[in-house]
Amino acid sequence: MSVLRIGHINIRVLDMDAAMNHYVNVNGMVKTHEDAAGNMYLKCWDEWDKYSVILSQSDTAGMNHIAYKVSSDAALDDYKKSIAEYGIDVVEEDAGVLECVGRSLRFNLPSGHEMRLYAEKEFMGTDVGSTNPDPWPDGLKGAGVHWLDHALLMCELNPEEAINKVAEATKFMIDVLGFYLVEQVMVGPDGDIQAATWLSCSNTPHDIAFVGGPVMGFHHCAFFLDSWSDVLKAADVMSKNRVKIDVTPQRHGITRGYTIYFFDPSGNRNETFAGLGYLAQPDRPVTTWTEDELGAGIFYHTRELNEAFTSVYT
Ligand SMILES: [Fe+2]
Repeated sequence: MSVLRIGHINIRVLDMDAAMNHYVNVNGMVKTHEDAAGNMYLKCWDEWDKYSVILSQSDTAGMNHIAYKVSSDAALDDYKKSIAEYGIDVVEEDAGVLECVGRSLRFNLPSGHEMRLYAEKEFMGTDVGSTNPDPWPDGLKGAGVHWLDHALLMCELNPEEAINKVAEATKFMIDVLGFYLVEQVMVGPDGDIQAATWLSCSNTPHDIAFVGGPVMGFHHCAFFLDSWSDVLKAADVMSKNRVKIDVTPQRHGITRGYTIYFFDPSGNRNETFAGLGYLAQPDRPVTTWTEDELGAGIFYHTRELNEAFTSVYT
């Protein structure tokens, strides 16, 4: 059994029209479904399953749940058993509880974030198809993002109270869901507090990341682009559309990715991310960043964290 990749993320938005304009016209996704409650479902052009983002109208911004797709239906039974054995309550939900998805598992990570696992989602195919495909489709809007790539979740970290939900969530992902640690930030006087982690279930540098903060929350979800020039063009699209940019095009020291952080109209942070800086492997030595070089780890060019990076999230 194995986890294949991030499947979707359910984001709360304050204004559905403004949110749809952002995810469709700025990010370049397309609406593929709408449920009876008015939740909107969207996919990127290079994705083949029905959706990777669910937008839900709410009074608060943030994330309702994050979902990962697993390799087979049988894997769900194995995960249900291993999650319960780890001491975490897990609920099996019938097919259709998640729209267009087969049966699924619902549980909370040790950090408190709600996660779903599923094996089947309605197939749509990519916009270029699977037979003699062109490298990209005509009519792309905005940044034309390829796929939902990963998410970063904020976890409660309070060393004085001996609370480290980053370490707890990381251990769960490794021990139960089969992820492996790719990079980490170690802080504290002895450098022994795991304050941030990047974990993979594939060969990309991260499929999920955890960063410590005062309270749990949703830091960002990231959408994949091909190259540095696509990241630059995405920044042009954002300025053109008066999108609030958090960090203009930069390189991450961690993962070596090219990045822009920006906000949707509800204040949820998005990222456009390019450059698979290296091929992650389970036996690749874990990269460790020390507290004094953390700035360069996050933003390699300025080598400084902007104040908002770890304090502003939903
Ligand atoms: Fe990211």
